[in-house]
Amino acid sequence: MRSLKWNSSHAVFVTEIDDDHKEIFEAVAQFQAALSEKPIPIGKVNDLTGHLAVRIEDHFAHEERLMRAARYGLLSWHKRCHDAARKRVARLIQRIGRGDAEAGPALVKYLSEWLPNHTRLPDKMLGAFLRNKRRTAKIVFTVATKAADSCTWLNSRGERFDPTSTASDF
Ligand SMILES: [Fe+2]
Ligand SMILES: [Fe+2]
Repeated sequence: MRSLKWNSSHAVFVTEIDDDHKEIFEAVAQFQAALSEKPIPIGKVNDLTGHLAVRIEDHFAHEERLMRAARYGLLSWHKRCHDAARKRVARLIQRIGRGDAEAGPALVKYLSEWLPNHTRLPDKMLGAFLRNKRRTAKIVFTVATKAADSCTWLNSRGERFDPTSTASDF
């Protein structure tokens, strides 16, 4: 099986998410390379399994934090996708720990399909949402930094007032 390699078609255009994905793709490739060594280096495979598990869990938790902070409407659907992968990966890792020789290649196969598919739809949708949200925040910030006399100021009753000459009550 070809080894998993991140390329620009996997980009979601949010740097912190793309950086996580690059690390996970790389961790899968390293794990796969260790499995192809003869004889299989058991200690190295176990270390790389642990590294991969941590990278995946950190990344899922990272995306879920971003979704919660941005009040993303598709959080529960996206998290369910993560949870299904969490379960599958945990089961395969348990089998690797028990010395099941088929579990390592099965984990590589599963992640080599799941990661690009998940990146292609749920993560790209999340990336687009976060970019829009951040751009909106930037626009609001830019407007708010305009000179006070170039904005229309309304008090809490919706009445216009001049903040440079009147006491404000908002
Ligand atoms: Fe995700
Ligand atoms: Fe992701």
